[in-house]
Amino acid sequence: MSKFLIFILSISIFASVTLNAAVYKGQKEFVKKCVKCHKAGQVFVSTKKKREWNVFMKNKGEKLAEIHMESKDEAAEASREYFQSRAFTKNSKHLKDFLFEYAGDSGNVPACN
Ligand code: HEC
Repeated sequence: MSKFLIFILSISIFASVTLNAAVYKGQKEFVKKCVKCHKAGQVFVSTKKKREWNVFMKNKGEKLAEIHMESKDEAAEASREYFQSRAFTKNSKHLKDFLFEYAGDSGNVPACN
């Protein structure tokens, strides 16, 4: 194999590993923070298209936080502390990667776990 090919190969392996790491971090955050209320889990994620998740997750998840902060639904109350926290803004990028990965138009079928 030529050096060039090995170079290209290692770059693409590296890229896919880092991408998966981001998706994995986002998934952990989702399971920890969202599933207690959105029980359908990954199925819930697939009810929205990438474009829709993009709107929710723009500017470090500004819109998503807003929905939960302003919701009149009592069930949203328990999420307010989290959505106001630095943990949320810090992890919103990973969360977005995860939401995109399993969005309805991503072509990825949610796993049953
Ligand atoms: C404490 C409960 C709670 C937590 C935690 C929570 N949510 Fe929600 N979420 C709600 C409620 C209740 C609503 C409905 C708000 C309304 O319609 O007024 C909602 C609405 C939404 C909506 C918009 C409504 C829709 O179905 O189109 C999205 C998207 C959403 N949540 C995603 C998330 C994500 C992603 C997380 C984790 C980062 C999360 N939620 C964490 C309770 C929660």
